[in-house]
Amino acid sequence: MEKKTVFSGMRPTGRLQLGNLTGALDSWIKLQDKYRCLFCVVDWHALTTAYEDPTQLKENTYDMVINWLAAGLDPEKSIIFRQSDVKEHAELHLLLSMFTPLSWLERVPTYKDQLQQLKGKDLHTYGFLGYPLLMAADILLYRAEAVPVGEDQIPHLEITREIARRFNYLYRQQFFPEPEAILNKVKILPGIDGRKMSKSYGNTIDMSDHPDEIRKKVRKMVTDPGRIRKNDPGNPDVCTAFVFHGVFNTEEVANVEQVCRRGEIGCVQCKKQLAERIVSFLEPIYERRQALENKKDYIRAILTDGAKRASALAAENMAKVRELMNLGQL
Ligand code: TRP
Repeated sequence: MEKKTVFSGMRPTGRLQLGNLTGALDSWIKLQDKYRCLFCVVDWHALTTAYEDPTQLKENTYDMVINWLAAGLDPEKSIIFRQSDVKEHAELHLLLSMFTPLSWLERVPTYKDQLQQLKGKDLHTYGFLGYPLLMAADILLYRAEAVPVGEDQIPHLEITREIARRFNYLYRQQFFPEPEAILNKVKILPGIDGRKMSKSYGNTIDMSDHPDEIRKKVRKMVTDPGRIRKNDPGNPDVCTAFVFHGVFNTEEVANVEQVCRRGEIGCVQCKKQLAERIVSFLEPIYERRQALENKKDYIRAILTDGAKRASALAAENMAKVRELMNLGQL
């Protein structure tokens, strides 16, 4: 029996954060054994917001793939490639755009949200409005049936399914499957100051941080502000460090909660424990990263091979799409 196809993508917009690892990458790594997986560096998607200054795009692509490999993605098992290397993504995006109502794109909740949030950038562009459609093209191009994503991407998957249905209806063939989301379970990690983790807030823990850097950042992590002396009873419910204990110190988290509430452990000591958990979790990844850092040729070869394998699948499906839309051989 043929394996199901899984597709996912990540925008190369800078260093990967700890949350990317515990959210997306962990689930990708597990899927590799069961499915035919394609993992794509979606550099065209990055351009929709970074079009004014694309200078970092290639560097970020290398960096992201290094992180992927260091975390455990395996190019022997999965197809790892860059979106802009497989032009069929653009062709399918164009063809889908012919029958996608503008209103479908305008009502995607992330669209208005992002326009609001990224106020410093002019995003009243055709490309930005079409972001979800490009994502639909990514997925449908491989007739993927499952897409591991975070909750924020659900609306994009919904529109992908609508587009698949519309295509199948218009061209009278059940060609595209309607892809399902595989939801990343881990809750979103806050930044060390308790706000949303974001580069622009300077509160991130990055996958590439040196162990000492991690120790330093964890030391600065905010804890229960109502706790003045170290043997005051603490409230883990309002403590950022406690959220991280829940993810990286699962065996001891119940105990940590008790001793905190009883005021039996000070925040300094508690965070020291936590830092060591995070460090030992990241250490093997850090070492694999180091080993890959100066091997651009190797990374490039992986992406070239991935693009070749992805292109073969894309070519086959696009030939069929062209035929169904009467764009095939004259
Ligand atoms: N929009 C996704 C994100 O920001 C990235 C993405 C682009 C994607 N194309 C995709 C994810 C296809 C899954 C499938 O996270």
